[in-house]
Amino acid sequence: MDAMRIGVLTGGGDCPGLNAVIRAVVLGGARHGDQFVGVLDGWLGAIENKTISLDSDQCRSILTKGGTILGSSRTNPFATDEGADRVAATMTALELDAMVAIGGDDTLGAADRLYQRGLPVVGVPKTIDNDLSGTEVTFGFDTAVQIATDAIDRLQTTAESHHRVIVCEVMGRNVGWIAVHAGMAGGAAEILIPEVPFSLDAVCDRLRQRHDGSQFFSTVVVAEGALPRDEEAGWLRRSQQTGRTDQFGHVRLGGIGGYLAEEIEQRTGFEARSTVLGHIQRGGSPTAFDRVLATRFGAAALAAVHDRQFGTMVALQAGAIVRIPLSDAIGKPKRVDPHLYEEVAGLYLG
Ligand code: F6P
Repeated sequence: MDAMRIGVLTGGGDCPGLNAVIRAVVLGGARHGDQFVGVLDGWLGAIENKTISLDSDQCRSILTKGGTILGSSRTNPFATDEGADRVAATMTALELDAMVAIGGDDTLGAADRLYQRGLPVVGVPKTIDNDLSGTEVTFGFDTAVQIATDAIDRLQTTAESHHRVIVCEVMGRNVGWIAVHAGMAGGAAEILIPEVPFSLDAVCDRLRQRHDGSQFFSTVVVAEGALPRDEEAGWLRRSQQTGRTDQFGHVRLGGIGGYLAEEIEQRTGFEARSTVLGHIQRGGSPTAFDRVLATRFGAAALAAVHDRQFGTMVALQAGAIVRIPLSDAIGKPKRVDPHLYEEVAGLYLG
């Protein structure tokens, strides 16, 4: 295998396991003489030529470390006319044979467009939201689910002591994977996700029924992007949004948990509280599952680079690591299967 000079970047929201990928790429490449350049803060570093050298010594002890040693941003190289040319110029100036881009839909969407323009890019999928198509799961998701489950467990005991409804808002802009998995694992009374607009009346009815029986407390897990299906949705959608968008046009969400707690309390008379887990779900050390998946992805991405399989993304399918075209993964979020939601979480539908 010829030694290569390879750039590595991490883009989008950070997630546990990014460092494990970087480590696998760099330690694997070092075995056959590759040189690495760490591109800082996602595509921003590629546009502005902000880099660090990256070697095995830096990467040996980062397997368990959360975040990313390379920094991250939501910079879109296609937000300006010259962004993509500047990425190309940086790669030329750094004499890179390839770029490994680790990111979610936005980062990899940009990677695909850069590949279409002739740049040698290989993608690695990451997101705690687990919404990338083409891969059964992304690293970061398992850790986020575990963190959310631990939080729900804790909320259950205080909800029980005070006979309250506690609403737990979890991440998930377009999809409810974290809500469904953590809600099921934590035994939530209700799980509300963006894929299935909910009826506030039905939620309140079910809570009333539950509190009439043997249970006098409930936890409700809601994904940040979930919305009621009634007329309040328009108002809520506006109130949830801060008006601020990133370079990919995503609005900053938040507020559905507080809104729900207030509505539940007003409509049912049950005392309610809300907790927003927010970025706690993205921080800290990855679970063993995520460390393993991230390491396998890193090793596979390095192999794809050496095979010059540019324009591909590594993915998990039926337990095996495969390569798929980047274009197969992006632009079509992998939503929670309504059958899964109805069959397993169907207890919660009204
Ligand atoms: O990375 C995706 C995500 O986790 C979404 O679920 C959430 O809406 C978003 O990140 C929040 O990102 P930021 O770090 O920009 O607040």
